[in-house]
Amino acid sequence: MRLIAVINQKGGVGKTTAAVNLAFALSRLGKKVTVIDLDPQGHLASSFGCRQQNEGLDQVMLNGAGIESQAIEVRDNLKIVPAGNQLHQIEQLNEGGTERGRLLQEALSGSFEDQDFVFIDCPPSSGMLVVNALFAVDEVLIPMTGEYLALQGLSHLIKTIKNFEKVLNKKYRTWLSIQRYQSRRRLAKDVMVLLKKHFPQRILATVVREAAMVAECPGLGKTIIEYKPGSRAAREFRQLAEDLIEEKVMA
Ligand SMILES: Nc1ncnc2c1ncn2[C@@H]1O[C@H](COP(=O)(O)OP(=O)(O)O)[C@@H](O)[C@H]1O
Ligand SMILES: [Mg+2]
Repeated sequence: MRLIAVINQKGGVGKTTAAVNLAFALSRLGKKVTVIDLDPQGHLASSFGCRQQNEGLDQVMLNGAGIESQAIEVRDNLKIVPAGNQLHQIEQLNEGGTERGRLLQEALSGSFEDQDFVFIDCPPSSGMLVVNALFAVDEVLIPMTGEYLALQGLSHLIKTIKNFEKVLNKKYRTWLSIQRYQSRRRLAKDVMVLLKKHFPQRILATVVREAAMVAECPGLGKTIIEYKPGSRAAREFRQLAEDLIEEKVMA
């Protein structure tokens, strides 16, 4: 089982979109996939067309419920664990010492063993929820856009990840994925050149471009692959799923 945190403290870079569409594409390739919503905003369930779920991961992290018991089947081979409306409380916990950071790791230990991929869709922050994700996983996928501020944020994130590696004495497998790419912008091209230079062999090969249709999907409760299967964006996400399986990176 590959347990992957989809992480970037910047909002709007495409974390949820990437998690949703990669998960769906992988499930279509016959993989068993679960996506866990670690963002208190709880957009994951509605992205798959489920109504807002009051309970989910919050019950696991706050009340010790079993994580598999909170999973909902949303498509063939594809389950989600919704955030639940109390999840934000984790950020405010000030008791429990370092154990607070291990809640998700403990919940996941021995769970979802029949799954091929488990994604954790992280919130756009760097608080206790993201700490829980970094304790739990050994693989991270960082969606990146071609903006200058995203680049600044990335160096901060990489530092955080390196700190965790030191403290936890482990090494993450780190992937970057270019999302919302605007090929007509020079800045986007410049950022890509910089990324390739700083992260050789770490950027997944397929670039996902900005496309208005993708932004329509959450409102429809469908993945782009279901909404417009023949579109360029659908093709990009299907290819990105194969990149992730084959660990295919940019030259
Ligand atoms: N390739 C894309 N083209 C156009 N819009 C996109 C694309 N990827 C994501 N979006 C839109 O951008 C917004 C932010 O994406 P989202 O996945 O929610 O980011 P995050 O989870 O990082 O905050 C959403 O409205 C989403 O529909
Ligand atoms: Mg999100």
